[in-house]
Amino acid sequence: MTVLITGGAGFIGQHLAARLSERGVAVTALDTLDEQVHSDPEASKRRFPGEVVVADVADPASFAHFDDAGITAVVHLAAETGTSQSMYEQEHYRRVNVGGTVNAVEAAHRWGVPIVALSSRAVYGEGDPVKATTEDTPHRPLSVYGETKSEGETAAIEALRGEVPLTIIRPQNVIGPGQALHNPYTGVLSAFLAKLKAHEPLTVYGTGEQTRDFVHVKDLAALIDWALFTPIADESNVRILNCGSGVRITLNDLARFAVAASPDGPVEITHIEVKRAGDIDHALADITRLKELGAPVPQWQPADAVRDFIQASWNDEGADPSVWDKALDELAERGLLEGDK
Ligand code: UD1
Repeated sequence: MTVLITGGAGFIGQHLAARLSERGVAVTALDTLDEQVHSDPEASKRRFPGEVVVADVADPASFAHFDDAGITAVVHLAAETGTSQSMYEQEHYRRVNVGGTVNAVEAAHRWGVPIVALSSRAVYGEGDPVKATTEDTPHRPLSVYGETKSEGETAAIEALRGEVPLTIIRPQNVIGPGQALHNPYTGVLSAFLAKLKAHEPLTVYGTGEQTRDFVHVKDLAALIDWALFTPIADESNVRILNCGSGVRITLNDLARFAVAASPDGPVEITHIEVKRAGDIDHALADITRLKELGAPVPQWQPADAVRDFIQASWNDEGADPSVWDKALDELAERGLLEGDK
């Protein structure tokens, strides 16, 4: 049994691969080792507990390479993930996120094996400030990134026609050790880590009363593992699952948790009145369906997940905190930033 993980050398892929290989499940990765994510591509490759084939998911030939490899299941993680960056790199985001998903599901179909594909809660667009979002909520994406994830879901369902099992997972904000520390277009917690290490104030965009649901990467890996090995009961052969902690916290809470976890003592939390294009105010997963299906439910509380990330990443080489300020300048120049820095 060999699981092909697209984007396997990345943040989520490495956690999943470690978990599967510890149990004796063989893994192989298809990954571009993109420099925006991998500051040391060779180190990412070495860390992966199986072969890493460096190739682009948006090219169907990348999957043909595995036609005789005895793949028994596919996990499709490879994607571009920057919400605001998607607003000006639309073509590229569509090619990778929609095209890549179509290629992955077509390969699973050709091999007659189950596929677990990662979508995003970004398909829902703006969340409700009070209620949690269920999987049946209509898609109203506010960013090009969210649109590509929504189109990818539809294309996957249409291409497979129920002929092989398809699980679509919509994670909320995934955090934990190993998340990209250099990519200034995503990852508020990586920005907070860089600022804590430089002993600079944390910069919260807006009032900080926006809410998110931060889920530990190990909880997501456990859910993907379950989905890989648990048959789908529904006759559609499609299963759509939210993945979140089910706990809502504000960005101000997040900043406080990060400060409390710092080994280097407290820094100030400052606010700047900006909003990035495509940013939403509220997000929270309804995880009732996970419970109903007997899927693993999240084990990590947000404050513990934040502490785990900060402490595990403290000695890793990260980017200079100024890269996040530069990314805001770039958005402002492109007219994709509301408000003043
Ligand atoms: C995240 C994901 C995206 C995923 C989506 C699901 C990451 C890196 N991106 O987008 O792939 O599909 O959730 O909803 O996890 N902010 C600050 N200060 C900073 C940086 C950011 O206040 O220094 C704010 C942002 O304006 C935003 C919030 O923090 O309001 C979260 O931003 P970010 O970490 O980029 O994640 P999402 O946009 O939620």
